[in-house]
Amino acid sequence: MSIQDTDIETPMSAQAVEEYRDQSLEHWNDAASGWISRQAAIREMFAPVSRWMVEAIDPQPGKRVLELAAGVGETGFIAAQRVGPEGRLLTSDQSEAMIEGARARAAQLGLENVELRTLNAEWIDLPVASVDGVLCRWGYMLMADPGAALGETRRVLRPGGRVALAVWDTIEANPWALIPAGVLVERGLSEPPAPGTPGPFALGSDRRVRELLEQSGFTEVRVEALELRHETASFEEFFQTTLDLSRVFHDAVLGAPEAEIEGMRASLAQRLAPYTSPDGSLSIPMRTLLAAGVA
Ligand SMILES: C[S@@+](CC[C@H](N)C(=O)[O-])C[C@H]1O[C@@H](n2cnc3c(N)ncnc32)[C@H](O)[C@@H]1O
Repeated sequence: MSIQDTDIETPMSAQAVEEYRDQSLEHWNDAASGWISRQAAIREMFAPVSRWMVEAIDPQPGKRVLELAAGVGETGFIAAQRVGPEGRLLTSDQSEAMIEGARARAAQLGLENVELRTLNAEWIDLPVASVDGVLCRWGYMLMADPGAALGETRRVLRPGGRVALAVWDTIEANPWALIPAGVLVERGLSEPPAPGTPGPFALGSDRRVRELLEQSGFTEVRVEALELRHETASFEEFFQTTLDLSRVFHDAVLGAPEAEIEGMRASLAQRLAPYTSPDGSLSIPMRTLLAAGVA
């Protein structure tokens, strides 16, 4: 099943873009409590992605790093430790609720060189050439105009500064998302995303990511794929985690009648059987693309 074909471009109307931006902000503000409650698990599961990205921008002591679409902020906090007390991390996200989660985590880590700001990555409210590195983990593909956001990213980077980003590969390479999405669509609980619209898998093409970076003026572009596993102790933990992290899944499932939820859960458990061990734990493949470039 192909939920989304990334090669088909259907430009959204100006009105659809505005509606999408409003919905995205509401969606992520609503999702923030789930992301905060799962923060430790997210940190552990995705540490290799954050490490790759921070290595790619190689932040030196005293430098200034911007994290875009930071959510509750883990990747940037690694960079904050690397730039040290003379350096600065600006953690940003469009969602105030996510930024509050990031603020609490920065305080817990005792980081004193972090500034937090609500900011839209498609129009970055910073001067030209004001940062040395930019990090953005699983953000650009959710934006109405990722090309504009990458153009803005390049504008705020000093010449020679670096960007590192992660976007999910195709949904077919990510059964942790393909299977729940497929079950929802089959049961009429949600619609497949329209081709060419933003979403978690909208930039799942190394060619497209390279093209977007190069069109924005980045050089020395590299794009790699990284395999991860979504590990949970039980089906119940997988189900609850998906409810907490995916607002689409949350709203579709919790909006359905009780009997429908039971049927949906049974169908999901059956589809996940190939990834379920005899002890009930699940290990499901994930594949992300990682990319870096020089401004
Ligand atoms: C999938 S979460 C990823 C959070 C974090 N980067 C991580 O990897 O854990 C996506 C985040 O992107 C943010 N986001 C989406 N569109 C944005 C935009 N145009 N400007 C700034 N943030 C945006 C959302 O508010 C949300 O916090």
